[in-house]
Amino acid sequence: MGEIVRLQKYIAMCGAASRRHAEQFITSGRVKVDGKLVCELGTKVEIGANRVSLDGKELELEKKKYYIMLNKPYGYISAVKDQFERETVVDLVKEELNANLHPVGRLDYDTEGLILLTNDGDFTYHITHPKHNVGKTYIATLKGGITIKHLAALRRGIKVEDYKTSPAEVDLLDSVPGQSRVQITIHEGKNRQVRKMFESLGYTVTALERIAIGKVEIGNLARGRWRHLTSYEISYLMGR
Ligand code: URA
Repeated sequence: MGEIVRLQKYIAMCGAASRRHAEQFITSGRVKVDGKLVCELGTKVEIGANRVSLDGKELELEKKKYYIMLNKPYGYISAVKDQFERETVVDLVKEELNANLHPVGRLDYDTEGLILLTNDGDFTYHITHPKHNVGKTYIATLKGGITIKHLAALRRGIKVEDYKTSPAEVDLLDSVPGQSRVQITIHEGKNRQVRKMFESLGYTVTALERIAIGKVEIGNLARGRWRHLTSYEISYLMGR
């Protein structure tokens, strides 16, 4: 008898999506087990015995796992496919590496820098789950200078829309007339959070780049290029 796992975990193991997205696929009626539509999250399947399909296509267990770091350029979508046919972060890797990759979390269309890609849904689940609380470090370029008072407010946490941000690590990198650059590490990941933090204090963010996820840094990887994570980086990110 094969191992019994939850349906959403099986879909993630096949590399078709992260566990959370797999749950959405199930509840929205896109998944069948042995030809029968299954919309319940509690469903279990036996590896090697049950046939699972997504949108009518049978899933297969992915054998080799890939863990990639990409330096995302401006103007790419953090998704596998875009409904408007815009280029995605996966397109940047696909020509060189034939694997069923998906991005781990997301960067905005207009944000650059470090994004992870994998075909291991469990890895994605681990890193994106709020309880693992991995810090993400950004460099924000702002129009004009920033006050010491506002740097301190960002460190304490500020009100953005209907929530208060948790304390951030904040350093002013440099400031020239008309522009300043701030390094900021946040431990949560609400939609457009870094931009909103600065905007709520009255600043205009002219560029945003992610330079690290936890201790894993983009280093000198060129914009638009990718590399495999080292085994140290993978176990560090999984071990959190
Ligand atoms: N915060 C933002 O505002 N944008 C991103 O892409 C990531 C974090």
